[in-house]
Amino acid sequence: MSTTNQSLKPLTTKINENGNIEIGGCDLTVLAQKYDTPLYVLDEFTIRNVCNDYKKAFSAYKNVKMMYASKALCTQALALILDDEEFGFDVVSAGEIYTLYKAGIDMSKVLFNGNNKSYDELSMALELGVGRISADNFFELALLNEIASSYKKNTDILLRVTPGIECHTHEYIQTGHLDSKFGFDLTQIDDAVELIVNEYKNLNIRGIHAHIGSQIFETAVYSDEIEILVKELARINEKYGLSLNEINAGGGIGVKYTQNDNPPSVDEVAGKIISKLETSAKKYGIEPPILYLEPGRSIISTAGVTLYTVGSSKQVPKGRTYFAVDGGMADNPRPAMYQAEYYAEVVNKPLQEKTKTVTVAGRYCESGDILIHNINLPEIEEGDILCVYNTGAYNYSMASNYNRTQKPAMVLVNNSQSDIIVNRETLDDLISHDKIPDRLKN
Ligand code: LLP
Repeated sequence: MSTTNQSLKPLTTKINENGNIEIGGCDLTVLAQKYDTPLYVLDEFTIRNVCNDYKKAFSAYKNVKMMYASKALCTQALALILDDEEFGFDVVSAGEIYTLYKAGIDMSKVLFNGNNKSYDELSMALELGVGRISADNFFELALLNEIASSYKKNTDILLRVTPGIECHTHEYIQTGHLDSKFGFDLTQIDDAVELIVNEYKNLNIRGIHAHIGSQIFETAVYSDEIEILVKELARINEKYGLSLNEINAGGGIGVKYTQNDNPPSVDEVAGKIISKLETSAKKYGIEPPILYLEPGRSIISTAGVTLYTVGSSKQVPKGRTYFAVDGGMADNPRPAMYQAEYYAEVVNKPLQEKTKTVTVAGRYCESGDILIHNINLPEIEEGDILCVYNTGAYNYSMASNYNRTQKPAMVLVNNSQSDIIVNRETLDDLISHDKIPDRLKN
């Protein structure tokens, strides 16, 4: 059975009676007109389907806690949908914590990650009652203990470790290999545990955590990861007389950005993880532990698309044809950063023959601002609306105001209804943090 992360487009995508593409029952040409472009569109049905995929796939294992990785996309409306789907949240900053807190999320369902959490962020997490903190390094253990003792609180932690697993993804999004900025090396775990047990009395260690990378298409790496985590958990328990029973396997399951991508189904990954959990728990003589997962991309990527309006074009003599759109690297930095590839269609011409191979350029003053190299599209012209698929993850969350442009709006579509969930920034928003020293004023 395939799962939602294997779909190139939101599940409700179809061509309507006007011959235009619609998502969530909303004609995309109408959305572009109503809300302007660039526009992020999120399909609620697809989001809820992915959540169900995860719940079903892991239902065979009793103790699972799904923690959506907010870094993929963090807005209050999305938090409420995921909360309704009984997901918890992985966060990495005060901003993400604050977003969830203001949305009314129960903070005990939140897990705080990151390799350099600040004093203020850790204090905020303790004050608001964040459920778990994944401690990343020795500096943080000492800092967290100091803050917790000043609040006269004890806090539950996991130890983030680097299991030494290389997965075949872009170098910038690999995290579990040995030479990584994240987490304790396996050889440092004992020192960390000894400090916690003997000195850091305000820290309660609950288990260990790893995240091996992102946009992963292999499944065997998850088996390797689980084996290492369970083995370490059993070893620590035995050596220090503890009864840790939590492992966090991170996120990473890939999605289908183009026809050439073949990510595994969530079921396939779940099968590997569950069977490895059971066999290795038996092998190392412990009860199968509570499993935390932190999927980000695979939860939200497929549900999101970005609409752009086509503007200028350029035919290089004997070379490429460029079509420029009204967005680009500021709303989607992934092609420029990771050579990421995307698929797109012209919303108002979905059935026309794709006779042209073109390059879709962004509007930013940077030669590298190319959204899609060499895609087949129908004859396009100024004013056409282009829909780029699979932009739900790591687009808005990585967006910038480069060239002093406003970040786009985001709408949530469902059952033919569309609602703004993030306002388009205004020109006044752009200058709202500027200050002019008196001496420069006349
Ligand atoms: N947990 C931890 C500790 C992580 O560092 C990450 C992602 C996740 C979970 C979620 O991983 P996912 O399921 O989304 O693969 N900006 C890059 C991706 C960076 C991922 C960083 N960590 C991109 O656009 O491809």
